[in-house]
Amino acid sequence: MTDKAILTVNDKQFERPLVTGSEGGPAVDVSQLLSLTGLTTFDPALANTAVCRSAITYIDGEQGVLRYRGIPIEQFEHNPSFVEAAWLLIFGHLPQASELAYFRERLTANELLHEGLKNQFHYIPTDAPPMAILSAMVSNLACFHKQFLELEDAEKLVEAAARLISKVRTIAAFSYRRSRGLPFIYPDPSLRYCANFLHMMFSLPYRQYIAPPEIEEALNLIFILHADHEQNCSTTAVRVVGSARANLFASCAAGVSALWGPLHGGANVEVIDMLERIHRGGLSPEQCIRDAKDKNNPFRLFGFGHRVYRNFDPRARMLKTLCEKVLPNLRYKDPLLDIARKLEDLALADPYFIERKLYPNVDFYSGILLRGMGIPTNMFTVIFAIGRLPGWIAHWKEQHDDANARIMRPRQIYTGSAPIDYVPIDKR
Ligand code: CMC
Repeated sequence: MTDKAILTVNDKQFERPLVTGSEGGPAVDVSQLLSLTGLTTFDPALANTAVCRSAITYIDGEQGVLRYRGIPIEQFEHNPSFVEAAWLLIFGHLPQASELAYFRERLTANELLHEGLKNQFHYIPTDAPPMAILSAMVSNLACFHKQFLELEDAEKLVEAAARLISKVRTIAAFSYRRSRGLPFIYPDPSLRYCANFLHMMFSLPYRQYIAPPEIEEALNLIFILHADHEQNCSTTAVRVVGSARANLFASCAAGVSALWGPLHGGANVEVIDMLERIHRGGLSPEQCIRDAKDKNNPFRLFGFGHRVYRNFDPRARMLKTLCEKVLPNLRYKDPLLDIARKLEDLALADPYFIERKLYPNVDFYSGILLRGMGIPTNMFTVIFAIGRLPGWIAHWKEQHDDANARIMRPRQIYTGSAPIDYVPIDKR
């Protein structure tokens, strides 16, 4: 295997080194291309560009492989808690018992919101989208925890990470309570991460909600399956903002905003809207597939397709299995599950989807599962955000710790006007 690529421009040859990682194919290093040749590279949507070196998550899209810090995603099915997986992603190793106990203790110690932040919920309209609330509140954490605007040592980063991961759960639950006109339920320090979230979501002042173990375990796995996915859109947003040395809260708030989009984390809401339309009879599964294939129709088969996976998304496979296992135990028969299965069968047998290698992604079955657990549709992307937070923090930290990291600042191909003169308003 060669270790360089040769670019020929007008009879002149330029050698560029190849960059290799521990796994996956090499990349051509074009970082000096502009100074050497006067040329930039054109790669809209960064579809063919590696923007950094990263040791956090590995995906082989052709084989449907996903690993967190080297550990195959399938091994997370029964073993760790979300908190353990978060530590693994952020700090690079499975925590020792003492590290995990310490991190848990810090999560518990930080679960309350500052009263100033809590009071802000009262000024938000009750019908505000929870993702808007989440992004604003994560950003506002910077107002109340200014000691974390600079993270100069490892200990401070552990504390900042614990605060964010703990408080995001309280913020999420409060945004749901606010939207229902229900009183806020304070966190219960005796409960573990997922059970505590479900308690804040569903308890009443006079009756505590005790999450059935299968719901707690399912939520734990849902969070883990969403916890990182290398250079996806929201993580890239976090990295771009963080590259300007913006603080952790501001950078993660940018991640929440990016995740909200229907092509990214917002797809889990679109999937349920699509399945409900079919269920109500406004759309047949066959018509849905036809619309998705129609180039004159902006509709897409939500929950299908992925930039990196050209094979089954392993997270989708695990979520489908979880659906089949958990929903019957909850005595919950969701007609949308049958519709989803039917749509999947139709798509997987259709040449359009086969040729383009479009398979169900993480968002296709997650919503059905969340519905079964009693989570309302407008909270689905919020759940995704809680899960993704450790990944955002891990990437922010990796970049922050990289002495060679530079501000991200891409180039463009300018297509605007050639130089023209300014015309005073009375002469236009
Ligand atoms: N339905 C119909 N056609 C599709 C779909 C879909 N869901 N996804 C891709 N295609 C077509 C697309 O029109 C294009 O066709 P052609 O080659 O004829 O122009 C081809 O497949 C390649 O697609 P692409 O748009 O180049 O793919 P992309 O890498 O730019 O976009 C995607 C990836 C995930 C945004 C896209 O597949 C999509 O819009 N899917 C539906 C939304 C969705 O489920 N998003 C969640 C993604 S996974 C979790 C996450 O990231 O949050």
